Amino acid sequence: MTLDKPSVLLTGGAGYIGSHTYVALTEAGYRPVILDDFSNSHPVVLDRLAHLTGQRVLCERGDVLQTGMVAEVLKRYHCVAAVHFAGLKAVGESVQQPLRYYHTNVSGLLSLLQAMDSVDCRSVVFSSSATVYGDPASVPIKENFPCAPESPYARTKLACEDMLNSLAASNPAWRIGILRYFNPVGAHASGLIGEDPHGVPNNLMPYVTQVAVGMRDKLRVFGSDYPTPDGTGVRDYLHVTDLSEGHVAALRALIAKNQSFTVNLGTGEGISVLGVLSAFGRASGRPVPFEFVPRRAGDVAQYFADVSQAQALLGWRATRTIEDMCRDSWHWQQKNPDGYRTSMSSMQPASSHRNQEPAMPLQPTVAGTA
Ligand code: NAD
Ligand code: UD1
Repeated sequence: MTLDKPSVLLTGGAGYIGSHTYVALTEAGYRPVILDDFSNSHPVVLDRLAHLTGQRVLCERGDVLQTGMVAEVLKRYHCVAAVHFAGLKAVGESVQQPLRYYHTNVSGLLSLLQAMDSVDCRSVVFSSSATVYGDPASVPIKENFPCAPESPYARTKLACEDMLNSLAASNPAWRIGILRYFNPVGAHASGLIGEDPHGVPNNLMPYVTQVAVGMRDKLRVFGSDYPTPDGTGVRDYLHVTDLSEGHVAALRALIAKNQSFTVNLGTGEGISVLGVLSAFGRASGRPVPFEFVPRRAGDVAQYFADVSQAQALLGWRATRTIEDMCRDSWHWQQKNPDGYRTSMSSMQPASSHRNQEPAMPLQPTVAGTA
C-alpha cells in the first residue's frame, strides 16, 4: 500500500485522547492508523472522525498484545512512528485488579515495542501521567522531580517509562517521547467527539457536566480543608485539543530533530475545584449544585506542571482557557446526552467543522492475529 503522507499508528486511537489526536495529526498532514480493541471505546467514533476530517478512517480492530498482528499492521501501512494510548486508566480499578493493569499496560507496551523493533519502526510517543509523581514536595512540578507512584495504575506507567528508557539507552536508533499528561478535559469544539465515561464518572469534569445536564443531582466536592487558597483540591486542567496538538509537536520533535524526551503536558496553572465550578457556571450559564464531603482517599492537595521543558523541546504550549474547556465539555454533553450512543442524525450539524467531502460510513476491519 502506498501512501503520500507519513503514517502513524495510534494504539487506542478510538479512545478519548486518541480520537482528538487523530484529528490533530490529520490536520497536520499525517495519516493516522488506528489500532483499537474497542474495550473502552465505541466504533461510532470512526464515523465521527470521518465526518470531521472528510477522509476515510484507517482502523484495525485488534489487541495490542498480539505482537504479530501489530507488526503486520505497522508493515502494511508503512508506519514511521507509533503513539501508544492503548491501556487501562482507572486508579480505583487498578487497586482491585493489579494483574490486569500490569498485563494490559506493561505487557501491552512490551508487545508494541517488540512489533516495532521487528519492522524497523523505532519512533514512539507514550501516554504517561502526572500521577507518576505521587504527592509532590512542591509545585510547579518539574520532570526531574522524584517519582513516587501511589497506585498500581501509576506504577504501571512508571514501569513503562523504565522500559522505554532502557530501550533508548540500548540503541540510539530508538526515538522515544514520554508525555506526562496532567488533567485532560474538554472536547473537540465541534461537539462530535469527547469523553464518554461508562457508569458514574470518577473524574471531576464529566461529573460536573452530568450534574448540569440533570443526570445527577449535585457534585460532591471532596475536601474543603486542603492547604490551598479556597480549601479545595488544585489541579492543572488541560484542554484535550491542546493535548492533541502536543502529540503533533512531540512527533515532529522525534522525527525531525531526532530527539528523545520526557515532558510534562499541562497549562502550568493550578485551578481549584471551586474555580472549575465557577468557570463552568460562566461558560454554560448553569450554576452547578454541590456539597462538601470529606476528602477522597488517595487525593493530593495540589499539583500543576512546570511546562518550560515542553516549550523548549517541543515548541508547544497550551493556549485554551478553563472557560474554553468548560464550554467544550458542556457542548459535547448537551449534544451527546447518551455519549456515542447518540445518533448523528439527531444532532445539529457542526457548522465550523463541516466536511469537504461526504462522510463515508465505516466499519473497523479485523486484522490478522499473531
Ligand atoms: P481511553 O480509555 O478513552 O482510550 C484508551 C483506548 O485504548 C480505548 O479506545 C480502548 O478501547 C483501547 N484499548 C485498551 N486496551 C487495549 C488493547 N489491549 N489493545 C488495543 N486497544 C486497547 O483512555 P484515554 O483517556 O484516551 O487515555 C489514553 C492514554 O492516556 C491511556 O494510556 C491513559 O492511561 C493515559 N492517560 C490518560 C489520562 C486521562 O485523564 N484521560 C491522564 C493521564 C494519562
Ligand atoms: C485522577 C487520578 C489520576 C489520573 C487523573 C486523570 C486518582 C487518585 N487520581 O486524578 O491518576 O491521572 O484522574 O484525569 O483517582 N473531585 C471532586 N468531586 C468529584 C470528582 C473529583 O471534588 O466528584 C475533585 C478531586 O478531589 C480533585 C479534583 O476534583 O481535587 C480533580 O479530580 P479528578 O478529575 O478525579 O482528577 P485527579 O484526582 O487529579
